[in-house]
Amino acid sequence: MEARNLLLLLLLLAVAAFVATGDAHSKFRHLHLYSHNADPAVSVDLHRNNSFGNILVFDNLLREGPDPSSPAIARPQGMAVISDLTGAKAFTAYTITFIAGEFNGSSLSVLGLTTTTEVSDRSIVGGTGCFRTARGYVLSQYVNNNARLEEYNVYITFS
Ligand SMILES: *[C@@H]1O[C@H](CO)[C@@H](O)[C@H](O)[C@H]1NC(C)=O
Ligand SMILES: *[C@@H]1O[C@H](CO)[C@@H](O)[C@H](O)[C@H]1NC(C)=O
Repeated sequence: MEARNLLLLLLLLAVAAFVATGDAHSKFRHLHLYSHNADPAVSVDLHRNNSFGNILVFDNLLREGPDPSSPAIARPQGMAVISDLTGAKAFTAYTITFIAGEFNGSSLSVLGLTTTTEVSDRSIVGGTGCFRTARGYVLSQYVNNNARLEEYNVYITFS
C-alpha cells in the first residue's frame, strides 16, 4: 500500500473512532413516575364563559409510584395558560427539578400542550446540571380521570 493511501486509511479510522466515542458519550434515560398534583393557583381568571386565557401556576411532586407515600423524586413547577378557545387545552412551560437520586439538583425544561382527556406529549427543550444539553419528551396522562394523579413517562437524551 502506498504511504499516502495508508495515511488516508489511518485518518479515516481516527475519524470513525472519534465519531464512535461521541456516540458513546450521549446518554439516554427513561423514567416512569407519577405526578401527585396539588391544587394549582389560578393567578389570572378572566371570568369569561370558559377558562380560555386563564393562567394557572403549579408545584407538584413526581413520586416513584401512585402511592402518596412512595419516594419523591422531582418537582414539576411552572405555569399553564388555557390556550384553546374551547378551554380543553393548556400551553405549559415548566421545569422538572430533581430532589433525589442520581440527578438530584438537576432540572429539565419542558414546553407543550396538555389536555385532561388524552396523552400529553411535551418537549424537553433543555436542562441544567447533568441535563445541560438535554433533549427529549414527556408523555403524561391522568390516571382514572383524576386530575390529582398523572402517570409520567420521561425520555431524556443528554451528554
Ligand atoms: C359567552 O357566551 C355567549 C352566549 O353563548 C356569547 O354570545 C359570548 O360571545 C360569549 N363570550 C365570550 C367572551 O366568549
Ligand atoms: C439532594 O440535594 C440536596 C442539596 O444538595 C440535599 O440537601 C438533599 O439531601 C439531597 N437529597 C437526596 C435524597 O439525596
